[in-house]
Amino acid sequence: MKSKIGVVTSGGDAPGMNAAIRAIVRRAVPKNLEVLGFKRGYAGLLNNEVMPLGLRTVGGIIHLGGTILRTERCPEFATEEGIEKASEILKNHRIEALLVIGGDGSFKGALELHRVSGIQVIGIPATIDNDVAGTDTTIGFDTAVNTAVQAIDRIRDTAMSHGRVFVIEVMGRKRGFLALEVGLTAGAEVILVPEIERDIDSICQTLIRSRKKEKEYSIVVVAEGFGDSAKIRDMINKRTGFETRLTILGHIQRGGSPTARSRLIASLFGSYAVDKVLESDESGVVGLQDEKIVFNDLEQVIKEEKPLNTELLRLAEELAI
Ligand code: ADP
Ligand code: F6P
Repeated sequence: MKSKIGVVTSGGDAPGMNAAIRAIVRRAVPKNLEVLGFKRGYAGLLNNEVMPLGLRTVGGIIHLGGTILRTERCPEFATEEGIEKASEILKNHRIEALLVIGGDGSFKGALELHRVSGIQVIGIPATIDNDVAGTDTTIGFDTAVNTAVQAIDRIRDTAMSHGRVFVIEVMGRKRGFLALEVGLTAGAEVILVPEIERDIDSICQTLIRSRKKEKEYSIVVVAEGFGDSAKIRDMINKRTGFETRLTILGHIQRGGSPTARSRLIASLFGSYAVDKVLESDESGVVGLQDEKIVFNDLEQVIKEEKPLNTELLRLAEELAI
């Protein structure tokens, strides 16, 4: 029977990380599992920065964005010495399982840590990019989608008044999950994702066709990883003659109070991870598939590329007619 676990939030923060910390503590403590939080991601772990987490420590945080444990990116951890040092620190604290709330980069680190230390590691997917394989969604994704859509609804007002094209850049350095869902639900005429090439001619043709159909303004949603948004704005303006503006939504998408859906996912993932610790020594990554909780192989999750639902892109184009 295990008696002590560690928790860390790592990589880019995501709204709902706090709800996950709360769920872990509130499921673990009544089952006699002590919970130790490591601050500032793997950087704080390497520096032995700890925060004991009790039932009341996690009170009043379910609605807060960010993470009370703080987070960081830590290149030092991704070295042999870093992993060995982290392993020693965890063993000194008698940690029997480490719960890692983060994205696939953090899970790569967790796998290395497991290989070196033998300590059970459980990944809890939390990233606004939703780019973790084996799960339909991640903690924070729904919040980021809603934040971006609300911002675009406002932009739409001014776009319509002035009859302009708006290029709106959303996050997603490598993947287009956020851009796709935001684009579809904000009614964008064009959605540009890193996974699918699209040349400027075809973008302009879509916008010109749209004007011919008496649409007086247009929304172009572009994932940051697709390319240079300022260049896209300039090219659209030059080739179509339409007045074009660019808004980069940026880190606004990473903050704010988590939506009910993000809190729900966080609560399900966090409590399930604790159940896994109690019932087995298996390492893995928690996920949601067709609204059911699943437990995926850690190596598989890291190796696999999550497919983008191109049907959604087609639907978005069809409905933006
Ligand atoms: P995310 O978890 O959101 O994908 P990152 O990709 O920035 O975020 O990864 C977070 C941290 O995980 C990195 O700063 C590093 O400490 C660790 N990490 C990432 N990749 C590896 C790797 N290949 N091996 C060991 N640790 C890694
Ligand atoms: O959390 C993932 C992500 O939002 C990416 O989409 C984005 O490119 C990146 O983080 C930027 O984060 P930071 O400014 O923390 O490097």
